[in-house]
Amino acid sequence: MPFPYETVRLDPQRRALVILDQTRLPNEAVTLVLSEIEEIRDAIYRLAVRGAPAIGVAAGFGVYLAALRIDTDSYDRFLEAFRQAKAYLNAARPTAVNLSWALERMERVVLQSRGQSVDAIKERLKCEALAIQEEDVRMCRGIGEHGLALLHDGDGILTHCNAGRLATAGCGTALAPLYLAHERGLRLRVFADETRPLLQGARLTAFELTAAGLDTTLICDNMASQVMKNGWVNAVFVGCDRVAANGDACNKIGTSGLAVLAHHYGIPFYVLGPTSTLDLSLQSGRDIPIEQRPSREVTELWYAKRMAPEGVKVYNPAFDVTDHTLISGIVTERGIARAPYADSLRVLAAAGANPQA
Ligand code: MRU
Repeated sequence: MPFPYETVRLDPQRRALVILDQTRLPNEAVTLVLSEIEEIRDAIYRLAVRGAPAIGVAAGFGVYLAALRIDTDSYDRFLEAFRQAKAYLNAARPTAVNLSWALERMERVVLQSRGQSVDAIKERLKCEALAIQEEDVRMCRGIGEHGLALLHDGDGILTHCNAGRLATAGCGTALAPLYLAHERGLRLRVFADETRPLLQGARLTAFELTAAGLDTTLICDNMASQVMKNGWVNAVFVGCDRVAANGDACNKIGTSGLAVLAHHYGIPFYVLGPTSTLDLSLQSGRDIPIEQRPSREVTELWYAKRMAPEGVKVYNPAFDVTDHTLISGIVTERGIARAPYADSLRVLAAAGANPQA
């Protein structure tokens, strides 16, 4: 059955970004129609639209919609206002490099269009934002095809957070091979970590996988070791928000612990993401900025009553970095990078026009 929801799209008539509000899933499917830049930034910050590739697509549309409202015929004044809008959106979340990657791409269009009318530049920005969305759909398919080669009939796959349809404009990154395998008749058993504190695994991954008819078992994050020990997991598939030049991969908090467990149990651990998530300007994962989120996500959110004493200190990093030595392969739309990643990632990045390369 086709997935009946669209994660993120442009409505050109209404001059709006249309998203499925992921904070309301799985209980309610609410669509948000956003035309103000403040609303778009807030939607990214609140995770109403989330997942590295989807954030990039939303940012492309967001800065285009902001550009439409710049009322001037002067190129220089347009560029200045465009850059303000870009910086404003870029500050929404710091970790997923797809946000700045998409915004840089949009700015390049403006810079390459000097000499053209502002109206013509706005039209080119629309085309670029739509191209980012279309490429995202294709890259999901490409990751799916490459990742499919790692799967066998009967495999158990453990995944963390949500790196599926709801995190992209297409069929996902880490989940794309699972969808493809399912389409082609392979029987898989998927274990979805609930993913504290924002429950992307319980609310989103379990939702989209069960909607597609995949055999899905939800576990709390602290059950992963037991599930591995039972012999139920043949591979771990996770997404990524930024990958450094040495292969260190940043993803949802809890991912690096899974990699340590997988290493202990001798289970292959794969990171799946588009080449737009590579940031080869950073030597290692130590340089990746880690988003810190409000303490109430840990102490209160989802509970009927607060579940921690008032005044307790809370540490709530949204991401962690998995050491490249624990990663069996990094699956991109251009192929699978293997260690040594400093070489293989550079080759993959050079195979296309990746601005971070
Ligand atoms: O905070 P989120 O929900 O945006 O975090 C998302 C993840 O960590 C995903 O695994 C990652 O962005 C890859 S999505 C294809």
